[in-house]
Amino acid sequence: MENLQELIESADTLISLEEARIEIFGKKGVLAGEFAKMKSVANEDKKAFAQNLNIQKAKLTDLFDKKKKVLEEKAQEALMVKDGVDVTLFNGFDESGSLHPVQETMNKIIDYFVSLNFSIEEGPLVEDDFHNFEALNLAKHHPARDMQDTFYMNDGTVLRTHTSPVQIRTMLDPNVKPPIRMICPGSVFRRDFDVTHTPMFHQVEGLVVDEEGKISFSHLKFILEDFLHYMFGDVQVRFRPSFFPFTEPSAEVDISCIFCKGSGCRICSKTGWLEVLGSGMVDPNVFKAVGYENVSGYAFGVGVERFAMLLHEIPDLRSLYEGDLRLLEQFR
Ligand code: DAH
Repeated sequence: MENLQELIESADTLISLEEARIEIFGKKGVLAGEFAKMKSVANEDKKAFAQNLNIQKAKLTDLFDKKKKVLEEKAQEALMVKDGVDVTLFNGFDESGSLHPVQETMNKIIDYFVSLNFSIEEGPLVEDDFHNFEALNLAKHHPARDMQDTFYMNDGTVLRTHTSPVQIRTMLDPNVKPPIRMICPGSVFRRDFDVTHTPMFHQVEGLVVDEEGKISFSHLKFILEDFLHYMFGDVQVRFRPSFFPFTEPSAEVDISCIFCKGSGCRICSKTGWLEVLGSGMVDPNVFKAVGYENVSGYAFGVGVERFAMLLHEIPDLRSLYEGDLRLLEQFR
C-alpha cells in the first residue's frame, strides 16, 4: 500500500494521475485484486480484512482527490499563461487613429456653445412635412421649398433637409419652456452633388428664445461674431440682409477671406468675403406654429463641412466622404 501512495504522490500531470487511478482503483486494479483475496481468507478473519482494506481505500481516495485538485489548478494556471495576452508587448504598430475632420470641426463648434450653457438637442433624420417645412413658415408651394432639393419618401415624409425642424421639436416639447438656449448638431440630406455639395452633410442649428423684448438682433450679432473669431481667429465679420422663411429679418454672415485676407482670390471668388452661415430673428409665424406668445428669439444654422473645408483648405467637399486614407492621415 505504501507504494500506491507513492504512485499518487509522484504523479505530476493529470495524465499520469489518471494512469495511477486506473492502476489503483480500476476494475482490474490493485484494490480490486486485494478485495478478490477475500475469498481465500478464513471466515473469522474476513471482517477485519475487509475493514482494513476499506480504510486503505479511503486513505488512497482522499489522497487522490487532493492531488487531483492541485494538478487541475496547476493545469489551469498553465493554460492562462499560454493563452494570456501580454498587454505590455510592443508589436511595432504605433499608429493611432484620429477624428474625421467633419467630426472634429463639429466638436469644436459644440464646445463653443456648450461653454455658453446651450443645451444639445436631437431630432429624427426622417421628418414629416410639418416639422421640416410648414411650422418653419414654409407653406406648401412656397417657392423657398425649391431652395432645398428634398429627398421625398413614398409615405410623404422627407429626409430632413436642415436641422431647423429641431427648433420646432424643442419648442413643442412639453418639458421645455423659455428661456431656451439650444443647438442641434446633426446630419441633413439634399439631392445635390458637386465640389461644394454632397447628398448628406452636417449642420449645427442654434436657437435662443426668451421673453418678449429680452432678445434682440444685437445679441445675435455679438454671439456670432464671437463664435466666428473663436473658429477662424482674427477675421472681419459682416452681416448681409438675406431671406429665410423662418427668420425676419434674416442675415447671411460672411467672414473676410482667410486665404487672401480680403484682397480677393479664387476661393472667395475675388470678393474678399466668404459666406459662412445663415441667421436671423425668429419669424413670428414660427412662434405661432408652436403656440408661443410674448417671446422673442434668434436662430442660426452652420454648415459643418463648409467650416471644415475652410479650416483645412480642402478644395473638394466630396473628398471628405471618399474614405481615402491619404486625406484622413493628414489629420492625425
Ligand atoms: N436652415 C437653413 C438652411 O439649411 C440654415 C439656417 C438659416 C438656419 C437661418 C437658421 C437660420 O436657423 O436662422 O439653409
